Amino acid sequence: MRPERVVNARDLRGVVHVTSAVARRRRSAREAALARVVDAGLLGPEAPLVGLLDVDGIRDSVDALTAAFGDTPVLHTFAAKACGLVPVLRLLAETGMGCEVASPGELEQALAAGFTPERLVLDSPAKTVEELRYALAHGIAVNVDNFQELARVDAILAEGPAAGPIGIRVNPQVGAGAIGAMSTATTTSKFGIALRDPGAVEAVVDAFARRPWLNRLHAHVGSQGCPLSLIAAGLRATFDLAEHINTVLGRRQITGLDIGGGLPVNFDGDEDDPTFADYVAELRATVPELLDGRYRLVTEFGRSLLAKNGTIASLVEYTKSAGGRRIAITHAGAQVATRTVFMPQAWPLRVGAFDAHGRPKDAPNEIQDIAGPCCFAGDLTAVGRALPLLDPGDVVALYDTGAYYFSSHFAYNSLPRPAVYGYRVVDDDVRLATVREAQTIREVVQESGAPHVHALVDLISPKSSGNSSDDGRDGRDDRDDPSHPEEVAV
Ligand SMILES: Cc1ncc(COP(=O)(O)O)c(C=O)c1O
Repeated sequence: MRPERVVNARDLRGVVHVTSAVARRRRSAREAALARVVDAGLLGPEAPLVGLLDVDGIRDSVDALTAAFGDTPVLHTFAAKACGLVPVLRLLAETGMGCEVASPGELEQALAAGFTPERLVLDSPAKTVEELRYALAHGIAVNVDNFQELARVDAILAEGPAAGPIGIRVNPQVGAGAIGAMSTATTTSKFGIALRDPGAVEAVVDAFARRPWLNRLHAHVGSQGCPLSLIAAGLRATFDLAEHINTVLGRRQITGLDIGGGLPVNFDGDEDDPTFADYVAELRATVPELLDGRYRLVTEFGRSLLAKNGTIASLVEYTKSAGGRRIAITHAGAQVATRTVFMPQAWPLRVGAFDAHGRPKDAPNEIQDIAGPCCFAGDLTAVGRALPLLDPGDVVALYDTGAYYFSSHFAYNSLPRPAVYGYRVVDDDVRLATVREAQTIREVVQESGAPHVHALVDLISPKSSGNSSDDGRDGRDDRDDPSHPEEVAV
């Protein structure tokens, strides 16, 4: 069911905009949270960049997802890559969701958040033998990406049966969406078994015939930029293949279909568009049997659950003018908005201008560029935007950044990961919770090899660098450390 919509405002051209209660709450809670983090000193000269997460918004999004599928039996898993922050995963685990993980780090994050193995799904195209062995032994569902991986699974299962479901990921090769890098169902995609390649369907059928323990098919057609019709076409092909396999085998060996995630998000407003209801309506139109309960469904949505519930907030450090263009230099750039900075057409972000108290800025609009702190010219999160003229000390908010932005840090210029806070507004009171502390500069230095400060010098002139003392800050002499890499290498 579509959320309630009410008339909200008429813009300068007289176009009426409608806003749902969900979108209005989202906006007002975000504004309250921005003012609160400034008041609390969590965003200011000492901490000029933070990530914010709307806790009620995340729960609203989960509710919208579960409502959209109605009575169809589904395990909704959250794609941890979209926001692998343990308290976020914990919040989602509390809603009854599962979690899709695609690396050892994501698996450990999910376990730390309290997901039980039977609510986990392991994807990833590069699973090691050890990762497979762990997942198979602990009842974590595994989606096998290719025939070589299947041979590894065979070898592991020769030692004992799997505790959880095992599927094969297929690529229905239905084509690309608007962003090539987000399109996983292209002819030459690296993911899954390419179904339209000669002999592929026969090989998949044969794989199931020989392995009674294979009981799922998996397809993730693509993410941002993929129209719902493309996703539905890919799932039509996947469903048809499952039916074909079960018919050829004369038994319903495939009992589950993992239909992936990929619902795109809009970056142009607080409404969700498309909605989960739109997604399910598209499935009903294209592959209605998918929803009739004959298969246990698994979904793996990421971005659509988190993106609109997250905000990056940064202080404006300086403002300047160059070639007639006004530029606000902030602390949010490629390190937290990587995709936007490198592919601005594909990932445009809305920008909000706030004053030094975190209140909406009341000033005439001017065309401005919003720049980040990274040392390359393209480190811009918005170009040529009409915004209230910004001053040093003001706050810039980058909306819809709850997925794949501040949670997927890019360590350019050794910029530290910012703190992340969750917020709720209860009876006009903004409650904040620390989701992640800011990375300290000391941690940055330690993680960049400081414990091995002499390692390369010593390769040239072993143990003669004379730098044997710990300087008490970032480096330390590791030459007597048994875990010293020189002692385990070649
Ligand atoms: C296998 C798989 N499942 C789920 C997702 C989540 O996609 P989204 O965040 O677009 O919903 C991805 C994203 O890359 C993926 O590769």
